[in-house]
Amino acid sequence: MNRNELHITSSSPEETFRLGAFLGKHVTSGSVIALTGELGSGKTCLAQGIARGLGVPEDLYVTSPTYTIVNDYPGRLHLFHVDLYRIENIAELTEIGLDEIMERDDVTVVEWAEKMIEILPEERLFISIAVLDDHRRNILMIGYGQRADNLIERCLVEFGS
Ligand SMILES: Nc1ncnc2c1ncn2[C@@H]1O[C@H](COP(=O)(O)OP(=O)(O)O)[C@@H](O)[C@H]1O
Ligand SMILES: [Mg+2]
Repeated sequence: MNRNELHITSSSPEETFRLGAFLGKHVTSGSVIALTGELGSGKTCLAQGIARGLGVPEDLYVTSPTYTIVNDYPGRLHLFHVDLYRIENIAELTEIGLDEIMERDDVTVVEWAEKMIEILPEERLFISIAVLDDHRRNILMIGYGQRADNLIERCLVEFGS
């Protein structure tokens, strides 16, 4: 399978948000974006940018769906924002219908995606965020499949050095 990678250093929450907004603007229907990184690394910040880029109305405030597990928002493409922080087993995910959500022609962004690596679709954009210090984050993007690959290509042109 096609695989393409990009490293970006973000120096502020605004920069991470901007990367998200770029992804949201260019992401195509049916995409799954899998986020991983410790608590406070910036997964929700990135997801908020994705929502903005997808045209989710600004008065809808995007927060970690830590308790609801899934929130969804209207936009150019419908956005499902998933947070698996409190999930303990895969069975809970099938209960929520996450596998069906990811098959829809919408966009799914998953925080703590490593918890459900077994049921993630083969085609996905994987983003890992590592904390460097108070303000800097190392963002690693890995694309699996043509769709994610194209998105990374676009990011390379926009943010790559
Ligand atoms: N470069 C950066 N990118 C993203 N967030 C940053 C950055 N630098 C500092 N932060 C801070 O880190 C925190 C990230 O929080 P959040 O996005 O909720 O993380 P997570 O969803 O991974 O738990 C916020 O308080 C944000 O202001
Ligand atoms: Mg979060």
